[in-house]
Amino acid sequence: MYSPQQVLANYRQQFGEGARVFFSPGRVNLLGEHVDYNGGFVLPAAIDKGIWFAIAVNNTNTANFVASDIEESFSVNLHEVRKQTGWHNYVLGILYILQKKRYIIGGFNCLFGGNLPQGAGLSSSAALEAGLVFALNELFALGLSRQQMALIAQEAEHSFPGTKCGIMDMFASLHGKRGNCMMLDCISLEYEYLPLANDEYELVLINSKVSHQLTDGGYNNRYDEAMEGLSLFQTVNKKITSFRAVSTEVVEQFSYMLSDEGHKRCLYITQEIERTREAAQCLKANDMIGFGKLMYQTHKGLKGLYEVSCSELDFLVDQAKMNYDVIGSRMMGGGFGGCTINLITKNKRDAAVTDIVSSYESVYGIQPEVYVVETGDGTREVMNDEL
Ligand code: GLA
Repeated sequence: MYSPQQVLANYRQQFGEGARVFFSPGRVNLLGEHVDYNGGFVLPAAIDKGIWFAIAVNNTNTANFVASDIEESFSVNLHEVRKQTGWHNYVLGILYILQKKRYIIGGFNCLFGGNLPQGAGLSSSAALEAGLVFALNELFALGLSRQQMALIAQEAEHSFPGTKCGIMDMFASLHGKRGNCMMLDCISLEYEYLPLANDEYELVLINSKVSHQLTDGGYNNRYDEAMEGLSLFQTVNKKITSFRAVSTEVVEQFSYMLSDEGHKRCLYITQEIERTREAAQCLKANDMIGFGKLMYQTHKGLKGLYEVSCSELDFLVDQAKMNYDVIGSRMMGGGFGGCTINLITKNKRDAAVTDIVSSYESVYGIQPEVYVVETGDGTREVMNDEL
């Protein structure tokens, strides 16, 4: 776990003076899961945990990277950016897409480290991509908007690590606003901040410690299944360009065209798009009880219809549901591991969390980590007086 001061000190030791420091946050998602790549709406928020980058131009053609957290480093000639393996691909993807789009960047030294748990579903990879593109935009005066940066980060993720992710993670990291989540329309990319100012309840993440990697294949498999389902609806009506135009009733009407699995996937997607609209209304009306009920419904869908949960996450949600003070709970993010997000009565939080955590420990022999969600601002430069 690194602080910005440590990141800067490590940079100085390795490369000398002259670095600027940037911060790129992870994200949570309140609702709208697996619908960003299906033309839906999502309700993410940037958090106060993330990755700090110390970075400076080096007047060469080489980019030098140091990942402090894992004590690994590598260098790349900017004229020879090719796919590699592991975390290298997240940074190489950004260099590749920027240059493919004819943005001119020179060599630089970059050391990064943070306090974002990896594999927990808090989008450490999107934070890395968004932070790097943001820093390079500043260093080389590329003139990119935050939306353009999010789209570049998404393209980089598709091209190099090879995850067919939606836009949610990088968009949330780049556009976060403290005290708010955002209702993001994943087609138009229009968004509205929704204040998360509730004195009665708080959001708590419980990390199952089942580590997930989007690159493992399950995520892309769901993407392919969703696209297959969509193409069937398009044979019925050519005007359909995304699941936004398909209702749950239409899925039922044409279910005979779908496989059992296809039917379940399409049902989940259309229900979740509808549920997210409803959830945004609950937030606007400060109806947290209503919002919490929708969280439980989303989990049911992710478990039974989209099938991206796992027994550990289901157990955590079941335990939460038995506790009167947890008014909403569900798995969060891509799935197959990572965290549950829980909406808990504020002054009952410790007791509720202790209950859930100790039952989990006794069944799985794993001690989950718990994080109380603090929302934060989006990717930004950290000024000297903050260091
Ligand atoms: C991952 C992806 C996102 C989104 C979520 C599921 O975090 O990167 O684009 O699809 O899973 O909602």
